[in-house]
Amino acid sequence: MMRFALFGAGRAGTIHANNIAAHPAAELGYIFDVDQAAARRLGAPLGARCPQRQEDVWQAEDVDAVLIASSTDTHADLLRQAMQAGKPTYCEKPIDLDVEKVRAVVAEAAGYDVPIFIGFRRRFASEFQQMRARIQEGAVGQVESVRIVARDFEPTALTYLERSGGLLRDKMVHYFDLVPWMVSERPAEVYAAGSCLIDPANVPAGDVDTAVVLLRFPSGALCTIENSRRSVYGCDDRIEVFGSEGLLQSSPARSHPLVHFTQTGIVQGGFTQSYSEESFATALDAFIRAVEAGAAVSPSLQDGYQAQLIAEAAVESLRSNRPVELQW
Ligand SMILES: NC(=O)c1ccc[n+]([C@@H]2O[C@H](COP(=O)([O-])OP(=O)(O)OC[C@H]3O[C@@H](n4cnc5c(N)ncnc54)[C@H](O)[C@@H]3O)[C@@H](O)[C@H]2O)c1
Repeated sequence: MMRFALFGAGRAGTIHANNIAAHPAAELGYIFDVDQAAARRLGAPLGARCPQRQEDVWQAEDVDAVLIASSTDTHADLLRQAMQAGKPTYCEKPIDLDVEKVRAVVAEAAGYDVPIFIGFRRRFASEFQQMRARIQEGAVGQVESVRIVARDFEPTALTYLERSGGLLRDKMVHYFDLVPWMVSERPAEVYAAGSCLIDPANVPAGDVDTAVVLLRFPSGALCTIENSRRSVYGCDDRIEVFGSEGLLQSSPARSHPLVHFTQTGIVQGGFTQSYSEESFATALDAFIRAVEAGAAVSPSLQDGYQAQLIAEAAVESLRSNRPVELQW
């Protein structure tokens, strides 16, 4: 049994806590949140201990692994402590919102032999796994363009957004990981444009709620990623990969699979109102299996660093309104 200490009892922490508790090879030993009431609300029914001080978790001798699902600006510090304690760690994306802290933690990790997995769970969604396999088999020939639409149902609360690092580091970063993984290339250039269109009062200073990013790859392939914090018809998450031999297309999760044909038209189930949570469990399972087998974890800290560098270039492009080159 792998006994976890979980940091963070918010939205992501709640999903992870339940997934750990339900996993046949895992156990939820501890939950620590600076909001102790939140930790207890989540931890008590699952049988987890909820210490008052963070040090109590690091000093506990019965912790086998750590899961960091606290606010983004706490990740690098917690990662450093987990490495020093020698605990295999699943850390939510992005690594941190401060790129200098990210560089420092990545450099420090080279001195430890501790598995660190970054929670890019979209890699574990079955449609994206199949897409990648088909691309690698050559099913679409030479990839020429990738088109991604990713819209949330409702904007997240300002208190979250203020600690998120902004739309490009917080949301777009999923695709800065997913696309290079899918097409086996890293972008050479990024160009970002953004606007505040939904509710400027719910956007932290300098951030946007709507963005389009263009990635240019060394092969010449192009990728556009369109993000919005709000979509009145539900969560819209679509990917198209177009190549010399055809097209692969994923569709967003439907709230209802039936299609109703009537005299006045065709009614289909709408899109779901929250993102699919299934891939959180698959990602956790991949982490547990890799650590148990002594195999390399993936997505790794280096994958998280790569996605973060693309996000930083996108932030710079948004600020300067110019394309930004990436050197690898
Ligand atoms: N992989 C995904 O799809 C996905 C989805 C949602 C969130 N996330 C990531 O998970 C992280 C948390 O997001 P959320 O939506 O749960 O946010 P949230 O605001 O709902 O929860 C964050 C929790 O962290 C706690 N916290 C703050 N500082 C802490 C500290 N030093 N130690 C312990 N706990 C602390 C807060 O009290 C809060 O309960 C973010 O990094 C976010 O990017 C990832």
